[in-house]
Amino acid sequence: MLIIENIKILRSGDWISSSVAIQGSRIIGVLCGEPRYFSKRENSFIRICSETGVVCLKKRGLYRKVSRLATLDESMEEVKILDGEGGYLIPGMFDPHVHVREPGQEYKEDWHSCSKAALKGGVTSILDMPNNKPPVVSKKELFKKIRIAGKKSYVNYGFHFALTDCNLEEIFSEEVQRNICGVKVYLDKTTGGLLVKDERVLINVFVQPRPVLIHTGGTAGLEKILYCYDSAFKKYSSISPLYICHISLKDELRLLEKARKNYKDIFCEVTPHHLFLESNTYRGLPSVKPPLSKKEDIEALWEAIERGLIDTIGSDHAPHTVDEKKLPSPPAGFPGLETTIPVIYSAALEELIGFDVLFRLTSFNSRKIFCKKLYSEINEGYPAEVVVLKDGDFTVTAGGIDGEKFETKAGWSPFQGFKLKVKPFITVVNENCFYLNGNYYRNRTRKVC
Ligand code: DOR
Ligand code: ZN
Ligand code: ZN
Repeated sequence: MLIIENIKILRSGDWISSSVAIQGSRIIGVLCGEPRYFSKRENSFIRICSETGVVCLKKRGLYRKVSRLATLDESMEEVKILDGEGGYLIPGMFDPHVHVREPGQEYKEDWHSCSKAALKGGVTSILDMPNNKPPVVSKKELFKKIRIAGKKSYVNYGFHFALTDCNLEEIFSEEVQRNICGVKVYLDKTTGGLLVKDERVLINVFVQPRPVLIHTGGTAGLEKILYCYDSAFKKYSSISPLYICHISLKDELRLLEKARKNYKDIFCEVTPHHLFLESNTYRGLPSVKPPLSKKEDIEALWEAIERGLIDTIGSDHAPHTVDEKKLPSPPAGFPGLETTIPVIYSAALEELIGFDVLFRLTSFNSRKIFCKKLYSEINEGYPAEVVVLKDGDFTVTAGGIDGEKFETKAGWSPFQGFKLKVKPFITVVNENCFYLNGNYYRNRTRKVC
């Protein structure tokens, strides 16, 4: 068992002191208020008792867990204790949009470096995109990736499968369905060169049950897929959810708002770089798709968050090397796993956005859309995927945050120069797998869907 003591937890809008107990991959107890430590010694044991029935006994500096009624015997489990140092406990990010790059382009990123970056950044589950080299368009590539992730990942993981003009049958197969979180559709050219043109395929993909994620390439692509979604509904009536990746324009928001009046299962994602970086003032390494937006689009995105139109924040972590970025035609994409949580939670501390809203956008909503799991707060039964943020004044520099080097092989950030108010200090993925102030502990991680 793992106990994180001395943390603050959000309850009805207020941060209150608490501790959480974790067993395996679940939270098994949340103790709000001051922990009830019974200083009275019972045969040299100190007892900690939570509201939810977790009872621990401490003997000579070691905690052991017993159930409420159990007597102290040999079967007791040892308990690890982490000191949260008064930090904020938030849900680990469930990132629906990550480009890990392995297999195929390990020089840009591999499962080891990518998942370590995630863990350090407070991201506890990553859903990997299929635009590898070669792309994940068949069972063979999918199962290869599953094997690699299982061996190397420091965080929990899932996979999106790419649609082509001719692989629908493969996508409908039970083996593929059982192992994917979503089907990714590229309607415009980007890294990897995947593209779907056949309109019948774009309609029929909504018959398989997994959410269909779209790289639209802008308003024309969005209009096209909304038309196909509508056609699919008219033809089949029961269809899969539609998920629009990295929305960045006011015009896209207008189209989406209209479509959502008719369909409740249309979801949309925004990235931190489209929320915080403006095309006119950005001076970092170039090129991302969709391109950075203008001020009025950014204002529309923030307003859409306020109105509840945006469902998720995805990092769209898309690592490319500094050398590649300095080429005359650089590949598109920004790394983001290590900056997303610090950047957006710093905004929450500055009251730009509510903590409860961020919990939904970074975690609860993605779990609902891709795993059909419903959560509204961190409580008993919640996955053991949590982060403790510590306050401070930190700066994103050329190669890291405040002198601590990035784990991503990209080694740079579009947020260079950003001032941060918080950063992850503890990230837990399960009882035996966590990041603690610069140190990594890895044990079994799991596939989330
Ligand atoms: O900027 C981007 N980079 N946009 C994408 O759609 C793909 C991504 C990548 O894989 O590099
Ligand atoms: Zn994309
Ligand atoms: Zn992407």
